[in-house]
Amino acid sequence: MSKTVTTDVELVDSINLLKKEKDAIILVHNYQPIEIYQVSDHIGDSLELCRLAQRTKAETIVFCGVDFMAESAAVLNPELTVLIPERHARCPMAAMATVPQVHRMRSLHSDAAVVAYVNTSAAVKAASDICCTSANAVRVVDSLDEEEAILLPDCNLAVYTATKSSKRIIPWPGHCYVHNRILEDEVRKAKSLHPDASVLVHPECPPAVWSLANSVESTSGMLRFVRESDASEFIIVTERGMVNRLQLEEPNRRYYAVGGICAQMKQNSLKKVYDALTSMQNRVIVPEDVADGARMALERMLQVG
Ligand code: 13P
Ligand code: SF4
Repeated sequence: MSKTVTTDVELVDSINLLKKEKDAIILVHNYQPIEIYQVSDHIGDSLELCRLAQRTKAETIVFCGVDFMAESAAVLNPELTVLIPERHARCPMAAMATVPQVHRMRSLHSDAAVVAYVNTSAAVKAASDICCTSANAVRVVDSLDEEEAILLPDCNLAVYTATKSSKRIIPWPGHCYVHNRILEDEVRKAKSLHPDASVLVHPECPPAVWSLANSVESTSGMLRFVRESDASEFIIVTERGMVNRLQLEEPNRRYYAVGGICAQMKQNSLKKVYDALTSMQNRVIVPEDVADGARMALERMLQVG
């Protein structure tokens, strides 16, 4: 009978042993519960984690994030076994675009390219021309031959991208419930309490919120900004877990979080990572025909740089 592993310290030790035994790496999104950082091989944003998944020589990835991230890893590296600790950790925004809706939008805007935010299902990626993340949406849109692009499903990211690109962006009526709820007044209040702080905002926030930013950044873009900045205080406007990553990497600055919690991101736990590696269950499987189409859209994005 296998030994019962209960404390965090025991779990961390056991997970580290299992990683060696199973030739596994653990990729962790910035918003994950802080306990999971302890067993990570890499912590990052969606773009960084896609690149790492594509390049890894490990046999297994345990993807600590939400469904579309683990799916992208499985699509980009089909030889790999990709496990997700909590199979119900699903980004609600990814369900706001379906394949029939993409086809309908295409028929309404036949001259436009379809750009799928990575926060989409593999099937929607396969029905699109190219993917983007919050870190590269402007570069992706600018790389297109078409003068028009449907950017789905996040309306706020689409509107933000339109302000930075000369292309005509056709938005989609989707949103992230965590970012879309953040109010302009909350940011103004934080600014009045901390007038010397730089304000970093995720582009999934509403325009009234990102218009108050010193810089609009993906999650790892926020970390890069802090590293390169002389400021000592930052108002971080995104999912609250981002502040844990900043505190870990740049502990000598002060951070003020504005934003809520992504319940789906917090469904993973150390115990679930341990269980996934022990049982090798919760494998992410993407049907081959869908994976082939989604890979084209993801690889095209990765080529943009
Ligand atoms: P990043 O790519 O900026 O990490 O964003 C992913 C996400 O889900 C934000 O809500
Ligand atoms: Fe999806 Fe929003 Fe959670 Fe990101 S923060 S995973 S977009 S629900």
